[in-house]
Amino acid sequence: VIPYGRQDINESDIEAVVTVLKSPFLTQGPEVPKFESTFAEFVGAGYGTATNSATSALHLVCLSLGIGPGDTVWVPAISFVATANCILYCGATVDFVDVESETALISVESLRIKLAEAKGKNSLPKAVIIVSFAGASPDMELIYQLAKEYDVKIIEDASHAVGASYPNGSKVGSCDFSEATVFSFHPVKIMTTGEGGMVVTNDVEVHKKIYRLRSHGITRSPIEMSSNLGPWYYEQIDLGFNYRMTDIQAALGSSQLLRVPEFIKRRRVLADLYFQKLAGTGLGLPDYNQLNLSSWHLFVVRIGEDAGISREQVIERLSIAGYGTNVHYIPIYRHPYYRRQVVDKDFRLEGAESYFSRALTLPLHTKLENRDLEKICRTIFESQGFQSIF
Ligand SMILES: Cc1ncc(COP(=O)(O)O)c(C=O)c1O
Repeated sequence: VIPYGRQDINESDIEAVVTVLKSPFLTQGPEVPKFESTFAEFVGAGYGTATNSATSALHLVCLSLGIGPGDTVWVPAISFVATANCILYCGATVDFVDVESETALISVESLRIKLAEAKGKNSLPKAVIIVSFAGASPDMELIYQLAKEYDVKIIEDASHAVGASYPNGSKVGSCDFSEATVFSFHPVKIMTTGEGGMVVTNDVEVHKKIYRLRSHGITRSPIEMSSNLGPWYYEQIDLGFNYRMTDIQAALGSSQLLRVPEFIKRRRVLADLYFQKLAGTGLGLPDYNQLNLSSWHLFVVRIGEDAGISREQVIERLSIAGYGTNVHYIPIYRHPYYRRQVVDKDFRLEGAESYFSRALTLPLHTKLENRDLEKICRTIFESQGFQSIF
């Protein structure tokens, strides 16, 4: 089966990992700081901290911004659960903002209305997490302006968006419009370290806090310690975690990062081919204006009543033909945990529900051949009898 997404590992990637395996340091050696600085430079941010996942990176960002009990943080209703879970880890409250029913990006209009209402009720959130869904960012400039008006912090969950850009030409990760941005290096994403994540920020104080919390809250910096008993000395000054990335992963990350421009180029070619092949078919397509901005982590179509075929039929046809699909994502508030602990049992947001009832992710990754993509498009619309000739 050709999956909806997968990693792309070449000989240089393997060599980079093997070199670390033969070196004195498997972790806490030179590879992690090297990866952090090259990644930060790549996206145009001041500081990078590598972590063992984007989930832990999100947790650290929330803590470093002082999010805790009594605070509320808003997230778009459509995302992977980790976007919201990180808030609960801090003991804070989660609330959901509706998304655009065609793109699953946060609805700026819903955000504007919700902020105005919250101000009236004196219940503004401390922060809003904005997701670059499928690799595309919403209008961050507008969102950031709005957030500043209400003194609300913006965190970007750009797990899908390594290599993506904003319309102003900056890379996602430049933190032009946020306090900090998080990326994921899970194998299904744009580039991989096996498991892994990265936080980038331009705020040195936020960076220092994240850096410390990643490794137990320990510091060796003389200015942060209450005393200094020698070169071996360190102090734990916060309650942190072991969220560290290994040197093995970082070496893979540095090697993969060199390949990101090539990955993005290929993904954009494939996305463009989907646009051509699926134009006029009755399927809802992503926003074509994102062609040269999005990283195209996912290619999500919407299969509505006017498509002449149901989502279940498409999933089945593609599965028989050997192609994997997926639904990204179930609205977070629909998960039993969230229904039990966070929202009322009949809580729903119309944009998120409309999107969720129609969305389907088609295969898109650098190993996908043009002829596979063409076959995927043919398979969706062919009659059952015709299918057997492939
Ligand atoms: C939007 C989003 N946020 C966060 C995560 C968590 O990433 P990780 O698996 O690196 O913890 C994911 C992973 O799927 C994601 O898609």
